Amino acid sequence: MADRQTKNVLVFDSGVGGLSVYLEIKKQLPHFNYVYTFDNEAYPYGELNPKRLIERVSAIVANFVASHSIDIVVIACNTASTIVLPTLREQHSIPIVGVVPAIKPASMLANKAVGLIATPATITRQYTHDLIKDFSCDKNVELLGSTRLVDIAEDKLRGEDISTEELKQILEPLIHHIDVAVLGCTHFPLIKEEIQEALGSHVTLIDSGKAIANRVKGLMSVVAGDEGNEGKSIIFCSAPPLKESALNHSLKQLGFTPVQIHPLQGV
Ligand code: DGL
Repeated sequence: MADRQTKNVLVFDSGVGGLSVYLEIKKQLPHFNYVYTFDNEAYPYGELNPKRLIERVSAIVANFVASHSIDIVVIACNTASTIVLPTLREQHSIPIVGVVPAIKPASMLANKAVGLIATPATITRQYTHDLIKDFSCDKNVELLGSTRLVDIAEDKLRGEDISTEELKQILEPLIHHIDVAVLGCTHFPLIKEEIQEALGSHVTLIDSGKAIANRVKGLMSVVAGDEGNEGKSIIFCSAPPLKESALNHSLKQLGFTPVQIHPLQGV
């Protein structure tokens, strides 16, 4: 039997940040169907106990893989990917793609120093320190972990204004010290322009979205000319979302039907 050309992609994050990755994948693969799910009940993952994080992500992914005939899973969350990928790959036979901070390209580009902006958990993970050791031994990497920046991105997607002053205060330790910044949390591309303004135009910002989209495309062996109509995008969360109607307004513009609540049982 010929392979189905319309694949079902599961994109997962703790919140709306993974939408930045979804948008990159959808740009390249508009004919696929997308199931986006976020664990807002346990958000923010950057402050979650690692054991609980692994349990929750495993349970949510298993649930959606089984119920939505998923062909590929994208863990669009650096905080989760830096810890949960081996477990998920043991549990599933379909491809599991993760997002980790783009230290290697950043270090290759930098002349001065790299700034890694991520969640408090990501900057302490062994995985992140190994990336820095392996791929940035000749460039200093300054670490900045902030949950407030993640909240700001959540607010922006709900139509709230962002205070440039507050962003400058958060990013202050990096200002004038770096020439390349890694957006090591998938929420941050959603506030990329504001981060750019705070850090200055001489700083190059790097995220992993496009690389992940390329990876998904490669793994799904897409053949040119096989594309059909645009696929469907649906979205779920684990608890009633904050400012639901403002959120749905933005989600509609990204091609989603209104968010549905899918509580996580027994974890
Ligand atoms: N978007 C997530 C990431 O890439 C984490 C946000 C959170 O702290 O929940 O790390």
